[in-house]
Amino acid sequence: MSLNVHTRWHAFPSQTAIHEAARDRILAAAETAIAQHGNFLIVLAGGSTPKAVYALLAQAKADWSNWHVYHNDERCLPADHDERNSKMAREVWLNHVPIPPQQIHDIPAELGNIAGAKAYTETLKGVRSFDLVILGLGEDGHTASLFPGHAVDNSADAVPVFNSPKPPADRITLSQQRLNNTHEVMFLVTGVGKQAAVDQWRQGVAIPATLIHSPQGVDVYCYGVVLN
Ligand code: 6PG
Repeated sequence: MSLNVHTRWHAFPSQTAIHEAARDRILAAAETAIAQHGNFLIVLAGGSTPKAVYALLAQAKADWSNWHVYHNDERCLPADHDERNSKMAREVWLNHVPIPPQQIHDIPAELGNIAGAKAYTETLKGVRSFDLVILGLGEDGHTASLFPGHAVDNSADAVPVFNSPKPPADRITLSQQRLNNTHEVMFLVTGVGKQAAVDQWRQGVAIPATLIHSPQGVDVYCYGVVLN
């Protein structure tokens, strides 16, 4: 992937600006996909950065009945655990909009990483290319639950993760290949802690985040990091 051609960096002047821009981008992607396919397939990121965007979406008007929601990764914890990505998304957003419940696809990580990954791979069987994959960036350059130093596992659409350096150790992630099977990719990156990972990325170092791209390239929405 050539940095200049495929990766578009967007610096925003405030938290509000980045959150609103991300919300608007998601709503626009939904309109385009629904016009084209009759539905919108979005893959959510966990972590703290997207949370404020999801809260804005809870207030937005959209054709919710045609949204289908997936997750890019999940932590192997009980379904109602506060650290579950699916719980966060439901509490701040999905419980407040009329997306049909059968169109919200949590990763069943409470089954453990092996059984849960198998089950989610079944869920994804026959699902067309995603329209929009949202991703966060970890301080070590990870994205979804693809961590530095871990072998890339493309053996299934959803794969187990062991020994994650970010707790909990057991996780489930969509594979690199399945994440890349998407029309668009948007990273949400906020906070000075992400500076080193951003610098590496922009210098062409192969951090896990650079594994993910789409035919439309990659948009990286940033706040609080300097784009040197
Ligand atoms: C998770 C993630 C992870 C996250 C990044 C960024 O479950 O922890 O999906 O990949 O997106 O670590 O997280 P923050 O936005 O909280 O910095």
